[in-house]
Amino acid sequence: MRAYVTGGTGFIGSNIVKVFAERHGATVHCPVHSFVPDNPQGYTTEPLDLLDADAVLSSVAQFDPDVIVHSMILNDLDGIYARRELAWRSYVDATLTMAEAANRAGAKLIVVSTDWVFDGTQAGADEHTPPNPVNYYGVLKALSEQAALLQAHRAAVARVSAVNGVHWARDEMPRGQDPGYGYFVTTVLDAVSQGQPFGVWEGDDINMAATPSLASECAETMWLIAANDDADGIFHCCGAEPAGRMELARLACEVFGHDPSLLRSVPPDSEMMSSMAGARIPYDTTIRTPRTTEILDYEPLGTRELLDRFKQELESGDLVPPTTGG
Ligand SMILES: NC(=O)c1ccc[n+]([C@@H]2O[C@H](COP(=O)([O-])OP(=O)(O)OC[C@H]3O[C@@H](n4cnc5c(N)ncnc54)[C@H](OP(=O)(O)O)[C@@H]3O)[C@@H](O)[C@H]2O)c1
Repeated sequence: MRAYVTGGTGFIGSNIVKVFAERHGATVHCPVHSFVPDNPQGYTTEPLDLLDADAVLSSVAQFDPDVIVHSMILNDLDGIYARRELAWRSYVDATLTMAEAANRAGAKLIVVSTDWVFDGTQAGADEHTPPNPVNYYGVLKALSEQAALLQAHRAAVARVSAVNGVHWARDEMPRGQDPGYGYFVTTVLDAVSQGQPFGVWEGDDINMAATPSLASECAETMWLIAANDDADGIFHCCGAEPAGRMELARLACEVFGHDPSLLRSVPPDSEMMSSMAGARIPYDTTIRTPRTTEILDYEPLGTRELLDRFKQELESGDLVPPTTGG
């Protein structure tokens, strides 16, 4: 399979690249932007700004993919409010360009999306639940989903949730604790592994419940979507169980062998909260996977098993064998 992966130097993209290329032997090509990897292993790169539609169409045509996995975003909640036109171009217009590129190449388009398309009161939303985003990020992601589903001849949406895991392209995780769940486990482990106390944010105005996922398992689910000709529409590429922030932090301490008494409940950082342009944060974004499980014949993993696999990835510096047999 030939896979064109956007955002391949990002957190989730680096897992998509590794799973597709190393585990499944796909030929992978990634446009790269401000960060250029020194020595990309097992995939090719090309400098490209995904806002340049003509250049994107030409790059995709030249690579001639079977699948495009579009994980690129302008990852800046504050910034998308400050620069709304740039944000629109980066999310909605870039997805429309990828749909056009996929159609011209006869490729399937998989757009990576988020549990934040839900409003925080839709606990346990499944793939058929209508989204109701409460902030601009969620609006842009919901519109990008629709852009792909309506414009691409073969399209799938891969929603991920509370993603943790190894960043295979960069040494540093891009951020610490924030009102969402991304990178949360790494942030907890960074502190408790040094014997330092860690304040778990808890409050009514942040994301307090989600469905923890491991980035490489999300990528494995995307591989199943790519490899299955009948897999189109919306998928939930996440773990099997909901978890609160403290519950996830405690379980991470247990699995990684650190002292859970270092964890404290604290209110969210007021400086961080005031830097978010007044964006509302969805409270409970737990999601379920009935359609995904049925179509892909894939059973999502529980949180303890995902954390175990995360630990093995960190210790071995590599992926661990898939649970899907493939
Ligand atoms: N992380 C989570 O917990 C989470 C949760 C839910 C959904 N998601 C979704 O997962 C996807 C990936 O998120 P992530 O956390 O992996 O993001 P990330 O680490 O910030 O990666 C974003 C990638 O997009 C690239 N990019 C940005 N602007 C670009 C441009 N104009 N042209 C070309 N490339 C550009 C970046 O490259 P440069 O850095 O070189 O600019 C980077 O490789 C997104 O669709 C996001 O909505 C993530």
